[in-house]
Amino acid sequence: MRPPIRYPETPGAMYEHLKSLLADVVLDYKLKQKAEIACEINRLKRQKGAVILGHNYMEPALYHSIPDYTGDSLFLSRMAAEAEARIVVFCGVRFMAETAKILNPSAKVLLPSSKGGCSLAEGVTAADIRDLRKLHPGAPVVSYVNCYAEVKAESDYCCTSANAATVVKALLAQGHRRIIFVPDHYLAANTARETGTRLILPERDGVGGWRNAEIPPGGEPVIIGWRARCEVHERFTVKDIENARREFPDVIVLAHPECHPDVVAAADFSGSTSQMLKYLEEHPRGRYLLLTECSMADNIASRHPDRRMLRLCSLRCPHMQEVTLEETLESLRQERYEIDVPADIGGRARTALDRMIATG
Ligand code: 13P
Ligand code: SF4
Repeated sequence: MRPPIRYPETPGAMYEHLKSLLADVVLDYKLKQKAEIACEINRLKRQKGAVILGHNYMEPALYHSIPDYTGDSLFLSRMAAEAEARIVVFCGVRFMAETAKILNPSAKVLLPSSKGGCSLAEGVTAADIRDLRKLHPGAPVVSYVNCYAEVKAESDYCCTSANAATVVKALLAQGHRRIIFVPDHYLAANTARETGTRLILPERDGVGGWRNAEIPPGGEPVIIGWRARCEVHERFTVKDIENARREFPDVIVLAHPECHPDVVAAADFSGSTSQMLKYLEEHPRGRYLLLTECSMADNIASRHPDRRMLRLCSLRCPHMQEVTLEETLESLRQERYEIDVPADIGGRARTALDRMIATG
């Protein structure tokens, strides 16, 4: 496992550290409060033998003060699997914490939020997967990691936005011509385009049957998708990109693959949150528009003051925002909210997740 990120130990030094990064983003008196809370969290973390994982969408003060590891879903899943800690605190949403629990069942996994939902995870059920399998017997099921444990347990593979195309290409190379890919409509469409496959989107007809479920003639490989969408990323439009380019012709546009395929096609780069961060670090051009959760732009801007980040700031994930430094402190103090995944479901989901973390 990589060495964890280190932070200043005293509130005064933590305040100076946060101020150097966030003076333009967080009010000074708030920074002082946040620095004290962060130091208390880090003290408890050491005392209780905990590891804190922080998704790239965490609020800037949290992101820069307590996680042992920060990153995208794929990287954090790998860190969760390798963690030897008694407690893993997942600063993210529920499906991520469940994934950590499945990959590391002996750890006590805590989510600093009682809900931590996700419109994608809520958009598909285990019964939907069983029905899709009946509709297309023999087709392997790939679940985007943004789904709950029961859905993962019905799946053959999981993937994240960082390795969706790699997983699909591997299945095509094994000779599969039909691949069920749930729940994200737009990630499926973007993956279909990247892998040269055709997307169909079956939907229930309301009287026990299906519409749009037929495989088109011609024998070309087909992805059988689902209609769930990310409530944040579905709101970005091509117009947003055109407006940004009109005002700033040199802007580099980075779009998460949960965005509409037309948005992804109009962007300069598309990838997972960490892949976008890596692209930006490797292309120091000056001005960027990030079509993803806005906290991530704040986190990048504070670490790279030489890069100018344009933001569409009304677009934040309400579920990720439930996790704050204050909630994380209570989570560690009270050891709440503990994630429980029944052993039979966790055991079945594990195979699909192991394949995900082993891929690309
Ligand atoms: P990443 O896997 O790219 O971090 O994305 C997770 C997510 O929920 C994006 O909305
Ligand atoms: Fe789910 Fe979208 Fe929030 Fe990511 S940004 S956790 S996909 S609702």
